[in-house]
Amino acid sequence: MNTHFIRVDDKQYGPFSRHELRGLAKKGKFNTADYVWHHDNSEWVHAEQLKELRSIFSEEIPHELVENKVIAIGGGKGGVGKSVFSSALGISLASLEREVVLVDADLGGANLHTMMGILEPEYTFFDFYTLNRDSLNDIALETPIEKLRLISGACGTLGLANPKYSQKLRFIRELKSVEAEYILLDLGAGSSYNVIDFFLAADEGIVVTNPDPTSVQECYNFIKICLMRKLKRAFHGNKQVIELLEKDDVTRPGRMKMSIPTVLEEVRQFDERAADFFQQVLESFRPKLVVNMLINQEDVREGVAIQAAAADLLGIDVDYLGYISYDENVRDSVRELKPFLLRDPKSKASGDMARLVHGKLLGKSVFTSLWQKRKMQKILEEEKKVYPDLQLAEKAPICSLKCFYWNDCEYQNGGHPCTIRHLEPIFKT
Ligand SMILES: Nc1ncnc2c1ncn2[C@@H]1O[C@H](COP(=O)(O)OP(=O)(O)O)[C@@H](O)[C@H]1O
Ligand SMILES: [Mg+2]
Repeated sequence: MNTHFIRVDDKQYGPFSRHELRGLAKKGKFNTADYVWHHDNSEWVHAEQLKELRSIFSEEIPHELVENKVIAIGGGKGGVGKSVFSSALGISLASLEREVVLVDADLGGANLHTMMGILEPEYTFFDFYTLNRDSLNDIALETPIEKLRLISGACGTLGLANPKYSQKLRFIRELKSVEAEYILLDLGAGSSYNVIDFFLAADEGIVVTNPDPTSVQECYNFIKICLMRKLKRAFHGNKQVIELLEKDDVTRPGRMKMSIPTVLEEVRQFDERAADFFQQVLESFRPKLVVNMLINQEDVREGVAIQAAAADLLGIDVDYLGYISYDENVRDSVRELKPFLLRDPKSKASGDMARLVHGKLLGKSVFTSLWQKRKMQKILEEEKKVYPDLQLAEKAPICSLKCFYWNDCEYQNGGHPCTIRHLEPIFKT
């Protein structure tokens, strides 16, 4: 948020966000001896006295050398909660003092900005592609949450629903240079090459599913398609292995007569070195899994079932991170454009999210994780107080058959304010 006023050479400037202040500090236009307005004490203090600003001056390490992590969030089906989970993960990590950039990479139906309470994003990918912005950093928007920025995919990206391979490559290269510790990529539904390529290019991938049979099936297929693409890329040019991988017994969805471990055995019979490499590729693909909208404890088993199927049929380890309960708080929060963690930090889903992040994702011990979970809830309670209340009904258009996107919209929430895209002008009278 733009909350800091500064005084440099007796002139007042602002308000600036922390991110903007960091930019000024980097250019040498703002330093520790300059004054900053301190809201709590209602007085001007030297920048070095403000704890929350210290990190912006300790930038001796060039950004290129700071290891950041790109995490892609995908999964076969639409509506399983990928975007809800991505934004909750972003907020969780930001509340733990990590710099996070959330990227809406659903190039066909971007809606992450609305979930983050931004109705009309100032910049989108469109600006990156068409206005020749130098860096994705230039189009990262501040969100109401400190340390969390958003790259919006809204509005202009419709024409780029199918980016060229060169555009994808440029995008993937660019991502790594974004200034953040975590870069979270919220992918679109389906298993098109666009989605798969981004999923595989990330440092880590999280697959989200629901416990119902069709979602579980699609989730498994998504993991399989990703692995097949990875293997085919790795063995590009090796005719014998590619022929095996393209066999009907292996590729046919739902009827896998020949498992990947069996393919590996066959490869070993004619090429020992290729088999070792094959094994390495299998070991290097370790997607993480989250089951969302869990209704009862038995649903937890669906995640275990996917894990078992992936081990048996695909020969890979899936890292089951945990689950998030079905919770009305989540549904209401999407309607109110308020992230569910902030709408009610103590709700069931918020508790599940905190456990998932502290336990498996960040790998803390049970004790530390419990303590951290409480700490996170406390921080979220504070964030909740300052999070803006959006009068959606006044700002958003009302969903109707006349909407340009009616046929493509999975919600078709006729008569209610549009919570999905808010593309202007979308209503033709
Ligand atoms: N844990 C949950 N409990 C209840 N409803 C949920 C939960 N997670 C997601 N939803 C609902 O599902 C809808 C779709 O989620 P979304 O994140 O947009 O899916 P995706 O990005 O996978 O298409 C949300 O608008 C929300 O109403
Ligand atoms: Mg989505």
